[in-house]
Amino acid sequence: MSNKTLAIIKPDAVGNGYAGEIIDKIIKAGFKIKAMKMVRLTRASAEGFYAIHKERPFFGELVEYMTSGPCIPIALEKENAVEDYRKLIGATDPAKAEEGTIRKLYAKDIQFNAVHGSDSDENAEKEISHFFSRDELLNNYSE
Ligand code: RTP
Ligand code: MG
Repeated sequence: MSNKTLAIIKPDAVGNGYAGEIIDKIIKAGFKIKAMKMVRLTRASAEGFYAIHKERPFFGELVEYMTSGPCIPIALEKENAVEDYRKLIGATDPAKAEEGTIRKLYAKDIQFNAVHGSDSDENAEKEISHFFSRDELLNNYSE
C-alpha cells in the first residue's frame, strides 16, 4: 500500500471558481499537499498524461477539455491515498457519485467531472512525475 496519489483540479472546476473549496475538502479529509501548481497543459502533455485512453472514443474530447484552461495538479500524501482519494471524489459520472463527494458537488457530467485521481499506486508514481520533479517533492516535507 502506497501513501501517494495525484489529484488534478480540472479546467472546468478552476474556471467555475471551485478550486478553493475542493482543496479545503481534500485537506479536511486528511491529505497532505506535497506539491501543487497551476498549469495550462499543452496538447502533448495532456495526450501523454491520458495515453492509457488513446483508443477510447472520448480521447479527442478529453484532450480538448484538459487543455481548455488552467488546471491544478496536486501531489498528495496520506495512508491508503489512492483508494481514499477516489472515495472522496466519487464515481467518474457525477450522476452515479455518492452524496457529499467532490464530483457529486462540483461536476457537470461524465466528461466535465471537476477532478482527477490516480487509479493505482503504480500510476500515482508515474502521474506525480509527469508534473513534479524530485526536488519539488523533496523540498516540502521532510518527515
Ligand atoms: P480520471 O482518470 O480523470 O481521474 O477519471 P476516472 O479514472 O474516474 O475515469 P477514466 O475512465 O480514467 O476517464 C478519464 C476521464 O475521461 C473523461 N471521460 N469522458 N465522454 C465519456 O464517456 C467519458 N468517459 C470518461 C472524464 O473526464 C474522465 O474523468
Ligand atoms: Mg482514470
